[in-house]
Amino acid sequence: MATTKKILRALAGETLETPPIWMMRQAGRYLPEYRATRGEAGDFLSLCYNPELAAEVTLQPIRRYGFDAAILFADILLLPQALGADLWFVTGEGPRLSTIETQEDFDKLKAASEIHETLNPVYETVRILSRELPEETTLIGFAGAPWTVATYMIAGRGTPDQGPAHALKDSNPALFDQVIDLLTEGTIDYLSKQIEAGAEVVKIFDSWAGSLKGADFDKYALEPAKKIIAALKEKHPGIPVIAFPRGAGERYEGFAKATGADCVAVDDAVSAEWVAEHVQKDGCVQGNLKSSHMVTGGQALVDETRRIVEALGKGPHIFNLGHGITPDADPENVQLMIDTVRGK
Ligand code: CP3
Repeated sequence: MATTKKILRALAGETLETPPIWMMRQAGRYLPEYRATRGEAGDFLSLCYNPELAAEVTLQPIRRYGFDAAILFADILLLPQALGADLWFVTGEGPRLSTIETQEDFDKLKAASEIHETLNPVYETVRILSRELPEETTLIGFAGAPWTVATYMIAGRGTPDQGPAHALKDSNPALFDQVIDLLTEGTIDYLSKQIEAGAEVVKIFDSWAGSLKGADFDKYALEPAKKIIAALKEKHPGIPVIAFPRGAGERYEGFAKATGADCVAVDDAVSAEWVAEHVQKDGCVQGNLKSSHMVTGGQALVDETRRIVEALGKGPHIFNLGHGITPDADPENVQLMIDTVRGK
């Protein structure tokens, strides 16, 4: 057997007796040690661009819980910043960026090949982690999917319905397609460098894929993922890719086959039983416990965790939440979830 890391075995299609486990946003504000390191860094972006401290917060949940994977500490919005967009975070509100409304706004951005000067500290974080992680822990790199990143770049902030991005797509498709193409190219370069620095798996976060319907889903969720995955696998044969088209609903079915992803991460809007039948038939799946159980805990957490492990236990499965853990989560509930998955 070429590898013994459990995450890599599941991604290769093996059904394991106990699913490997990690958690989206596992390094985050629910952990006191994260809040302390973030305080030391000053603010969120300074933490992202400080390789020693970013590596430290990546390692914190591994030390505390022994997750099977560590996810690089960074953010999907570092790529737009590297392309020349302004980026800042407003406490309690979220990200703010310069907007894209016109061709002139787009023309101010840099070429995809020019991103690395800004992103070099991220690659350094990956190099530190690949030296320091325990042997059995898999290192996951990531980027946002072009559509999701475009929704922030166009609106200049998070939006409940991705309205500004939809409006640009429908009113000026030529400009919109340039944004998507630049992000597709930049994502390939960004993820390639993470892989060269030591990332063993990469994940593509399409958090707002659910607002793309019909042919738009094909064109802006499926096609870019397919292009990115094909380019990565050509440059780095065998690199496993996890795709997360959050909110895809019925479109989760067939997503792995259509894009070449080795694993599809599913949110909590689809049931584990449905996922077993319609998604896992094509390969590994990751998910899908509701994040709110990390706040509320108790018997409901245990029951739901067992249900998911049972429903997805007959095929390759990586246990995870359906979305990121929230700052109000109780660290004790995370331990309860892990103990339940591992049958302790
Ligand atoms: O999962 C991990 O632990 C790895 C690091 C990671 C972060 N963001 C750190 C972060 C990852 C993989 C992301 C992805 C990300 N970032 C997504 C896609 C996944 C998703 O959650 O849908 C999106 C949409 C973003 C953009 C983003 N970053 C927003 C909207 C916010 C503000 C919302 C919030 O939770 O405050 C961030 C900030 C952010 N990214 C934090 C962390 C730990 C909180 C920053 C802080 O410490 O204040």
